Amino acid sequence: MSKRPIYMDHAATSPLREEVLEAMLPYLQDKYGNPSSLHSPGREAREAVNEAREKTARALGADPKEIFFTSGGTEANNIAIKGTARRQKKKGHLITSSIEHHAVLDVCKELAAEGFQVTFLPVDRYGMVSLETIKRALTPDTFLISIMTANNEVGTIEPVAEIGALARERGILFHTDAVQAVGQIPINVREMNIDLLSLSAHKFNGPKGVGALYARRGVSLEPLYRGGGQERKLRPGTENVAGIVGLGRALELAVEEMPEKSRRQQELRDRLIEGLLGMGDVVLNGHPSARLPGNVNVSFNYIEGEALLLGLDLEGIAASSGSACTSGSLEPSHVLRAMGLEEQLARGSLRLTLGRGNSDADVDYLLAVMGPLVERLRRMSALYPRQN
Ligand SMILES: Cc1ncc(COP(=O)(O)O)c(C=O)c1O
Repeated sequence: MSKRPIYMDHAATSPLREEVLEAMLPYLQDKYGNPSSLHSPGREAREAVNEAREKTARALGADPKEIFFTSGGTEANNIAIKGTARRQKKKGHLITSSIEHHAVLDVCKELAAEGFQVTFLPVDRYGMVSLETIKRALTPDTFLISIMTANNEVGTIEPVAEIGALARERGILFHTDAVQAVGQIPINVREMNIDLLSLSAHKFNGPKGVGALYARRGVSLEPLYRGGGQERKLRPGTENVAGIVGLGRALELAVEEMPEKSRRQQELRDRLIEGLLGMGDVVLNGHPSARLPGNVNVSFNYIEGEALLLGLDLEGIAASSGSACTSGSLEPSHVLRAMGLEEQLARGSLRLTLGRGNSDADVDYLLAVMGPLVERLRRMSALYPRQN
């Protein structure tokens, strides 16, 4: 088995597809018009943006008028949550979960500091939000529920359609951070009663720095910035035309290939999980079945996740411990802690997220490398029980 770079960190970001680059290149070179210009280069750019808007809407079961391009998932989450909060007549109540990405959690904390009431819901040991806890948290002042479609660390898929139905029934807005889910699992904003949804192109083999917010017609949002008429004044500023074209093409391809890709990834995922659990003193984090097709998250007793990560990197494998955004600090993941994992296990977590390029040979190589690495690290650990 040869040593070669193997990328298993697709939840952090995924490689740009050749077809997507091809679609983008003209808009970085010859087709450089500003979509707001009335001349033909401008109109050409405007048409490309509109086409991408149509593709994005089609992928979500939305209307093109309900799609607003942003600089990524973080900005879409900020516009969705702050944008609805700022349109409330009084500082009401919003509900989110304790396992959201910081791009939701920190926005909610900021609103709490401004005087809004915020409930951060607990989750069960699989990282699942229950409908019952949402119902119990509702108050007459609740104006927004924001629950992610799938978790970026443990891959648990939340009961989004049920939450959507509950919110619609009560006349409460429902936002979902679908950054990890779009392009991986089927989503239909109408069928799932979603009012606001955030997505990000670089998670489905599109370019970085571009995303979109779906906002159902009739949902009133206060823009975060002022300065231009672009994106119907919700997100002013000259459009990232090449990025938007790339987003549209990448999403179109991801949805087209989803059934085959997710079947394939699920097979690899399950083989990885089985192999890793077989190493002993290893637990699976996240839901066993309601789980993104490409997500593996396990905790190794007696080992620091960072040590595993560096050991794998030396063997040419790119993985993650906790989420990309929290690694770098040695704080145990807030997601794993919210799921009730004790600190030692939370520190020993490893996330492997699969993508289009991964193969059976990658799984074989990882499992072959992992056994000796785990054994070596455990031998060095003061906590590991000795035989004699
Ligand atoms: C669930 C979730 N939400 C939001 C984001 C932020 O998206 P972006 O990097 O496009 O700002 C991420 C990125 O890791 C994510 O996983």
